[in-house]
Amino acid sequence: MAKMAASMVENGEDAFRKIFKSYRRRNPPPDFSDVIDFSKRVPSDKIVPAKLDLAAVSDVDAARVGLKPVRDWRACGLQGYPGFIFISNPFLLGSQPSWVRQCLKTYPQKPNVCNLDMHMSPSETQDIWGKSVHSLSRPPSGKSQPKTLLERLRWVTLGYHYNWNTKTYSANHYTPFPADLHLLSLQIASACGFPGFKAEAGILNYYQSDSSLGIHVDESELDHSRPLLSFSFGQSSIFLLGGVCRQDPPTAMYMHSGDMMVMSGQSRLLYHAVPRILPAPQGLAALEKEGCAPASSLQDCSVVEPVSEEDWAVCSRYIQSSRVNVTVRQVLGPGQSFPETPSSQQRMDAGQTVGYHDEAAGGDSGKRKRSSSCDSADTVKT
Ligand code: OGA
Ligand code: MN
Repeated sequence: MAKMAASMVENGEDAFRKIFKSYRRRNPPPDFSDVIDFSKRVPSDKIVPAKLDLAAVSDVDAARVGLKPVRDWRACGLQGYPGFIFISNPFLLGSQPSWVRQCLKTYPQKPNVCNLDMHMSPSETQDIWGKSVHSLSRPPSGKSQPKTLLERLRWVTLGYHYNWNTKTYSANHYTPFPADLHLLSLQIASACGFPGFKAEAGILNYYQSDSSLGIHVDESELDHSRPLLSFSFGQSSIFLLGGVCRQDPPTAMYMHSGDMMVMSGQSRLLYHAVPRILPAPQGLAALEKEGCAPASSLQDCSVVEPVSEEDWAVCSRYIQSSRVNVTVRQVLGPGQSFPETPSSQQRMDAGQTVGYHDEAAGGDSGKRKRSSSCDSADTVKT
């Protein structure tokens, strides 16, 4: 079987991998003309209307987490991908900076887990923000400086902490999920027809301009009838959404700052990847201004606090060249609990290691094991 897998790659029969590599290529640059841009007009044969539950989230509840009223969201489905919903930046003006600050300053804090914990002591990774801001607030000196901890951050896990080696979550590795992000997720899921969503696990990915995310399926959660939510901030990216097999050619779309995706139903277990990070349109000028807006643009009852000027200076510099993606998952179904025997054992032999972040520079990249839901031929390194 291993031989067959190798020959499939040589023959270029893994359509997803071929397209992944073409979008990742630097020289010559790829043709971006087929990439769907939901922030612009999308050819009507490619999209289907997304049915949102307008009554599920009140305007006040939406505003509390920094979202526009649901009737004002621009939400779209994709032809051929039932259950996939793309929401073009539904954030109220002035609220994205607070979420960016949470991703850079708050969520990397203990007890959450990050890539730096893998080879540093807890005291060294205690205050990533505090240990980085001084050097990040200085104007660039021209000389190459050692990277700050914040610049070396690649992933953070929340709630049930994802185990990258066993590809599992477990009952005994859990810390409280951030209440604000839980509430944001609950509102998004409710509006998309999934009331009572429980944010139980989160993975934050921090991308530099040369980062990518390998081809994978998110199948470690025990209840696949619950949606997977994805929020993006900072620089833009190309997202590839494929099929249930790696032989299925993926659809390419841009993800810009503030955009959200919901993978549910038949689209919950599809292959996907991020082959490329791209400069944000207009260099995030609008978001820059939002960060400086007076704090009054957030409601008094907001769950997200306004960003201080000092914090925004660091955040805005960080997102000038980086992208942050947050995925939120419900791991267990209603009344469900983890199996007695760790499911890691039954999974250890499935699949090969796929680079989680395939970075040009290597470094602290975590490795995420992926297995196939199709056949053995598609467990190929990207
Ligand atoms: C993930 C994922 C996509 C992204 O973390 O599982 O698919 O846009 N992220 O970073
Ligand atoms: Mn994923």
